[in-house]
Amino acid sequence: MSFKIITIDGPTGVGKSTIARQLATKLDCLYVDTGAMFRCLAWSWTTQGCPESDESLEKLGDQTRIVFENEKVICDYTDVTQEIRTERISAKASKISGFPLIREVMKKQQRALVEEVRRSESYRGAVLEGRDIGTVVFPAAEFKFYVDASPEIRAKRRLLQLQKSGEDVDYEEVLSALRKRDFQDQNRKVAPLKPANDAIIVDTGRLTADGVLENLLNYVLKKESTSLELN
Ligand code: DC
Repeated sequence: MSFKIITIDGPTGVGKSTIARQLATKLDCLYVDTGAMFRCLAWSWTTQGCPESDESLEKLGDQTRIVFENEKVICDYTDVTQEIRTERISAKASKISGFPLIREVMKKQQRALVEEVRRSESYRGAVLEGRDIGTVVFPAAEFKFYVDASPEIRAKRRLLQLQKSGEDVDYEEVLSALRKRDFQDQNRKVAPLKPANDAIIVDTGRLTADGVLENLLNYVLKKESTSLELN
């Protein structure tokens, strides 16, 4: 069976990570959280205090070492799994993701990661989640999904996550930060958040997490078996 690339794009707080991770496990695919890559750059940017310019951010992107190790995110040899999820880093990640050179660096790294796995034959494919994966990074991917839910539903989910990790925030604060990030993601000049023309749209507000996973999984398996029959 050929190596498959599955893209899952959508706005912040929609539950992409859970869906993508589970789908990858079920299909024996590599899971790539591209948002975590932008968050790592935001973390490095903050800790190193780099100036805010295209050139210095490009250099930062080239020099920052990001490694996914089981469920951990390691940035420049530091475990940043928890820290990159704070509201402070979320806001910075959204900001730097608007820099065109940063997007180029990330696109190259994401493609290289998938190519390495394809060559090594260590997985049957890759599931990548983000904002521009189906539109820009892998526009020829065979399976493309766009997951969405209302800002209110997403803010409620995000609030629970933040409270669990001990952040002191309230609903209105989270909703307003989320709307701001939606606006930045959807209106940046390069690679704005939008569904690819050929993406399957999934409303996660109407389904349970298990329901969403089942829908995506069925779609992939059905399309694969149809193309096997045709060949
Ligand atoms: O998915 P996330 O919330 O962890 O992403 C963090 C930020 O990175 C978010 O503001 C949008 C940006 N991002 C992006 O621009 N392109 C991607 N492919 C993934 C994330």
